Amino acid sequence: LASIEVDYSKVALGQQIVVKWRGKPVFVRHRTPAEIAAAVAGDHADLRDPATDASRHKPGMADWLIVIGVCTHLGCVPLFGQGEFGGWFCPCHGSVYDTSGRIRKGPAPKNLYLPDYAFEPAGKVKIG
Ligand code: FES
Repeated sequence: LASIEVDYSKVALGQQIVVKWRGKPVFVRHRTPAEIAAAVAGDHADLRDPATDASRHKPGMADWLIVIGVCTHLGCVPLFGQGEFGGWFCPCHGSVYDTSGRIRKGPAPKNLYLPDYAFEPAGKVKIG
C-alpha cells in the first residue's frame, strides 16, 4: 500500500504505537511536555544532522512526532526510553537519538527520517 490511515486517538501521552508502512516500522509518538522541552532545548546543541524540533513535526502539533523507525546507520529498529537524550537507542551499534528523533551520538549519520503524512479529522493520520 502506498499510504495507510492510522488512528492515533487512543495513543496515551508518553506512549507510542508502531505501524508498518512500506515494509518499515513507523513510530507515532505522543510526546509529553518534558519530551518536547528536551527536543526544543536540543535545537541549540551541536547537531550532526541539524534540524530544529519545529521542522520535525506539523505546525501546532508538537505533541505528535512521527518518524520512520529505522536506524540511519545500518537499519536496526531503535528502542524508545533508552539512551541519555530520553529518546531512542539503537541496540545494534549504540546510536542515540533524542526526543525529536535527531541523531546525537553513535555511528548513525542522519536523523530518523520523516515520512510524508497528514492529519485528518477524527483522530486519524494518513501516512504516505
Ligand atoms: Fe543502529 Fe548501527 S544500525 S547503530
